[in-house]
Amino acid sequence: MSDATAQATAQAAVTVAVKATAAASGASATERFLTDKTGTSAPGADTERVHILATEMISAVHDIVRRHQVTYEEYNALKSWLISVGRDGEWPLFLDVWVEHVVEEVATAARQGSKGTIEGPYYVPGAPELPSVSTLPMRDKEAGTELLFQGQVTSASGEPLAGALLEMWQADDEGLYAQFAPGIPEWNLRGSVVADDEGRFAVTTIQPAPYQIPTDGSCGRLISAAGWHAWRPAHLHLKVSAPGHTTLTTQLYFKGGTYVEDDVARAVKPELVIDPRPTGDGGCEVTHGFVLDPAS
Ligand code: DHB
Ligand code: FE
Repeated sequence: MSDATAQATAQAAVTVAVKATAAASGASATERFLTDKTGTSAPGADTERVHILATEMISAVHDIVRRHQVTYEEYNALKSWLISVGRDGEWPLFLDVWVEHVVEEVATAARQGSKGTIEGPYYVPGAPELPSVSTLPMRDKEAGTELLFQGQVTSASGEPLAGALLEMWQADDEGLYAQFAPGIPEWNLRGSVVADDEGRFAVTTIQPAPYQIPTDGSCGRLISAAGWHAWRPAHLHLKVSAPGHTTLTTQLYFKGGTYVEDDVARAVKPELVIDPRPTGDGGCEVTHGFVLDPAS
């Protein structure tokens, strides 16, 4: 095989792997949501609240139709697209990219401690428990720059939170998440790290790659039809919790990384951008702490 052919074959393999992911990740994200979150998201019993929210959402749509003189052709295109979002299982992806950041902003407006951001569709509870100094589960020779991520979890008054739990999940060096993309070990780059008696942790992992919304599903079709881009900057996901404190759901981004200034999900905040320094052996390290608010 010539070099060019080998390269094309490798590229095709990557394309196939990523393509397989669009349908699989949508279906898995939908399944995951229905399993874990339906209890907290059933339609509220508060009729007045549902009435107000539903009425205003419907009239916002009416306003758009009038303001932009929406045609029957456009109306039917919308109808068909909405149907396909459900068929592709992409509602979790759609909502978490284009809506969740505002819900998070409203929900956490009164926080004193560390900033949070969106959870996204790829959290899975129950990742393997790991000691305070540990390495996230990963494959032999997992691709990507090694990253030592360390810090301390404290309360708003500065007390160390002994035994705080740091649930971490992230994409790999190809931007793919275990349990949502095929062929990745179940708990790859996912772990529940228990901080030590001083709330300290030191986790070895790899720097993830930017994440691309699957391009062959309904969300991808919207993005290309609207001339947008489909990318989130590389990020680490965390849920940090301790008894008596409000759980912090957050993400960390990498200074200077692609799409940090232009995240499709609008989830980047300046406080969430870390700047690991090279360790001299090809890896890098960063110290970053978390401050949890008291339980409300
Ligand atoms: C989506 C994916 C992510 O990794 C994330 O952090 C947020 C949203 C998504 O595809 O919707
Ligand atoms: Fe993510």
